[in-house]
Amino acid sequence: MEWDRIRKRPEDYVGANLLGYDECAKTFSWTQARGLLDGLPGGGLNIAHEAIDRHLKAGRGNKLALRWIARDDSKRDFTYAALGAAVNRFANVLAQRGIRKGDRVFSLLGRVPELYIAALGTLKNGSVFSPLFSAFGPEPIKARMMIGDARALITTEAFYRRKIEPWRKELASLKHVFLTECSSSLLPDTIDLAAALAQAPDLFETVRTAPEDMALLHFTSGTTGKPKGAVHVHEAVVAHNITGKLALDFHPDDIFWCTADPGWITGTSYGIISPLTNGVTMIIDQAEFDAERWYRILQDQKVTVWYTAPTAIRMLMKVGADIAKRFDLSKLRLMSSVGEPLNPEAVVWSVEAFGKPFHDNWWQTETGGIMITNFLSMDVKPGSMGRPLPGIAAGIVEHIEGGDVREITKPMAMGELALRPGWPSMMRAYLNEEQRYRKCFVSGWYLTGDLAMRDSEGYYWFVGRSDDVIKSAGHLIGPFEVESALMEHKAVAEAGVIGIPEPTAGEVVKAYVALKDGFEPSEALRKELLGHARQRLGPAVAPKDIAFRQNLPKTRSGKIMRRLLKARELGLPEGDISTLESEER
Ligand code: PRX
Repeated sequence: MEWDRIRKRPEDYVGANLLGYDECAKTFSWTQARGLLDGLPGGGLNIAHEAIDRHLKAGRGNKLALRWIARDDSKRDFTYAALGAAVNRFANVLAQRGIRKGDRVFSLLGRVPELYIAALGTLKNGSVFSPLFSAFGPEPIKARMMIGDARALITTEAFYRRKIEPWRKELASLKHVFLTECSSSLLPDTIDLAAALAQAPDLFETVRTAPEDMALLHFTSGTTGKPKGAVHVHEAVVAHNITGKLALDFHPDDIFWCTADPGWITGTSYGIISPLTNGVTMIIDQAEFDAERWYRILQDQKVTVWYTAPTAIRMLMKVGADIAKRFDLSKLRLMSSVGEPLNPEAVVWSVEAFGKPFHDNWWQTETGGIMITNFLSMDVKPGSMGRPLPGIAAGIVEHIEGGDVREITKPMAMGELALRPGWPSMMRAYLNEEQRYRKCFVSGWYLTGDLAMRDSEGYYWFVGRSDDVIKSAGHLIGPFEVESALMEHKAVAEAGVIGIPEPTAGEVVKAYVALKDGFEPSEALRKELLGHARQRLGPAVAPKDIAFRQNLPKTRSGKIMRRLLKARELGLPEGDISTLESEER
């Protein structure tokens, strides 16, 4: 098989929504894409209405919307009508307690039905939904809920006890905590969600949201400072819907499985909104990764479109293609991957295991939806992220004098990946951080922070991040947040955090620590620091390794040079060290 190109034959893409890329890109209009949706009277738009009520109005209430598979393999089915009724109950639960349009409702849940009900009920009530990653420790949760001015939270009793209760009093805005999986005696100042839902009516009139009203708040990390709350509005649903058709090739009969965690944006844009607006059936598995279980789900649920991530694909590769061949995966017609670089070997392996390739695609929390993809009807070039969606103008830019950027059109020249702003799911702000938001836009481009190249056929190739942000198992981790947690320990004078390559997770977090006077490096202290970080940050964010250093390399202005830590760790050239403090050289 050719490594540089997996050729598609017409029988590979019979009936695909996107046929003839150039023509489709030329004739595409966002106005037309908006016309596929209902809207609300008076020019309004609401994501939950488009995801559910539109189907009920059209008589599709009996269609299966969601099949939930519990850890113990038991199942719960929700038709669009049943999901709609549950969503209405949740919206009533919020409204009855005075939670209104614009109020922030956070969730800290695994993949359980309440998550989907809460997300859509919040949107239907005109409130803003903000999902948190359940593997976060108390520190990242507290930081995000403070920035987001959380008014309500839905979580399990166990998470609440461990991750919220210890600091709840510090967040005055948090008035309502709804608990799932409650024990018999309810904790003070909390509400039993199941009981509240049981008492709430199952009719609710969608709050009249405008297209530009805030709908979703998704946190992401930068190199410095606190997490950033990317603000998305109801109009984003136009992009969620159409990118589902074009990039994931949704058809009404599809059975779709998105394995993303609901705490990150993929879990909302493509784990809830896009499949439902497209009227497909979603499979949701509560359990964590397990190769056999996954293949069994693909087979038994007759999954047709599967959206997963490189770390999971590499874990499947580890157990071998033979296992895949023991299952009947003949219904699977499109496999997509997102979130981190998908190595060419993984694409080639997928052809061996499944008889078809994974289709890599690229986007970010800020872009709200898929921007670049390998389309079903196009040849796949293993290692490439594909081509821009119709309606998306991408480019490779270089920084020039005066703070401007200009496009580089030469094929395979490396520069920063940039997009022309204006698509519906583009973030509208970083909450309360005007300056950080503005910095993303230069010379009419939105700068992504990723380095990439474009080849002569318009396929984009990921090179790396232009900043120090770490991607581990698909999760974006800000080094500053990890450094801050380490610095809270009494022994730590300075901390520098980097990502180091690891074959399965892509990168893992490593910390370098300089100790305060009076503390000596030891294995016991190293373990204590690892435990401290894990307890504060949670296992997904905490460093996997810590190394002691006498001093950390810093610029003359005192900034830790993570780039240099990384070059030294990996034995790479140190590059320009003219700003390094002299005693460090
Ligand atoms: O660096 C890119 C990487 O993930 C970043 C976005 O992460 P996040 O905001 O968490 O978005 C999650 C939704 C996908 C990007 O800036 N990334 C994403 N997709 C790819 C990727 N890196 C390489 N290849 C991809 N396909």
